[in-house]
Amino acid sequence: MQNVPSLIVLDKNANSREIIKSYLNNLECIGEIKLFDDYKTGIEEIKKEKDCIAIIDISDNIDEAKEAVYDIKLLTPRIVITSSDYSTNTIIRALRLGAKEFLPKPVLKDDLIRVISMLANNTNTENDSPSRIITVYSNKGGIGKTTIAVNLAEELARVTKDKVALIDLNLQLGDISTFLNLNPPFDVNYVIRNLIDKEEDTLIRAFEKYKDTSMYVLADPSYIEQSESITPQEIEKLFNVLRKVFPYIIVDMSAAIDPNSLKILDLSDWILFTSIVNIPAIRNAQRCLNLFRSRRYPEEKVKIVINRYMENDEITLNDIENTLGQKVYWKVPNNYFTIMEAINKGETIAEINPSSNIGNSFRDFASKVSDDIIEQTVIQYRR
Ligand SMILES: Nc1ncnc2c1ncn2[C@@H]1O[C@H](COP(=O)(O)OP(=O)(O)OP(=O)(O)O)[C@@H](O)[C@H]1O
Ligand SMILES: [Mg+2]
Repeated sequence: MQNVPSLIVLDKNANSREIIKSYLNNLECIGEIKLFDDYKTGIEEIKKEKDCIAIIDISDNIDEAKEAVYDIKLLTPRIVITSSDYSTNTIIRALRLGAKEFLPKPVLKDDLIRVISMLANNTNTENDSPSRIITVYSNKGGIGKTTIAVNLAEELARVTKDKVALIDLNLQLGDISTFLNLNPPFDVNYVIRNLIDKEEDTLIRAFEKYKDTSMYVLADPSYIEQSESITPQEIEKLFNVLRKVFPYIIVDMSAAIDPNSLKILDLSDWILFTSIVNIPAIRNAQRCLNLFRSRRYPEEKVKIVINRYMENDEITLNDIENTLGQKVYWKVPNNYFTIMEAINKGETIAEINPSSNIGNSFRDFASKVSDDIIEQTVIQYRR
């Protein structure tokens, strides 16, 4: 007999457990169905299973359920969350916890069979959630792209516990490794030349995992002549491969507008278009936004981030929004000392001073990015 995953149901409501079992009893793509009213015992059972799908109900005690989902996530990626509360907020919460699917209660037989069959037939579910390429860009140098890419990526890893790739595509002048005091053995050029067709495990080993976070760093090429040989087609291939492994891909790049940069920008799901508050920078930003419009980027793809923001600046947020014709998505406060300490020590702001204004800002920024992405997923989900 073909190996099929067993199904572990964790639900405090006896009736719901039995309904799930009765709906799935004859489904050939799953094995034994085991029911638990207690999360702890259910998790012990999941630990014993080689291959299983977990259905966990979060209708009652959300905090207890949350801890349980975190534990289960370490054991199997195939998690379905059910709840009698199916507000958008709860669905977002469930997906953020790591559920592959959310089912409102009472569970409908057809939906349940569809979801479980899909998970049972797809063993590689770890990477099937949509992956987002988020590029931090400015057409001006020294605006804070690397600062934002590094600290946002690390906070996203902390907030979501998902794998976040931080890629240095500032091919000639990259400095992510300096910002994080890393000396990675491999770089973008090596991955493109040697690992692009390899298994995910091999590919991921070329990245430097940052300390105890789930952020994986890929450095820029060690030699300028190597960066010159990288083509837009190769960047596209790299992105396609990375999308299979990482739910979030944060890209840092140069200010140049050349064929490689345009490729990166075209392929990004989001561009965090960064500016500071001064007239030349805003004028520059205006020109670049016109370029984005001429390339028909949808408005929601380009998100304006103001760096080094100060409340009492002469130019107000309103002025910037009026000039650029678009709302500002996020403001990162000015905090030179914390940033310089972080850069000099080769650490992130979260490590140096998490409770500073800029530490709080990056944490909230990451939560907003992750919430907005999940919300986009929920909207697609509800269609
Ligand atoms: N929010 C901030 N508050 C204060 N200083 C900042 C802030 N963000 C960045 N800086 C300062 O700006 C400098 C340039 O930042 P960063 O290297 O991130 O810019 P960049 O856009 O990546 O530059 P490049 O175009 O050279 O790659 C940093 O060394 C830091 O001193
Ligand atoms: Mg930079």
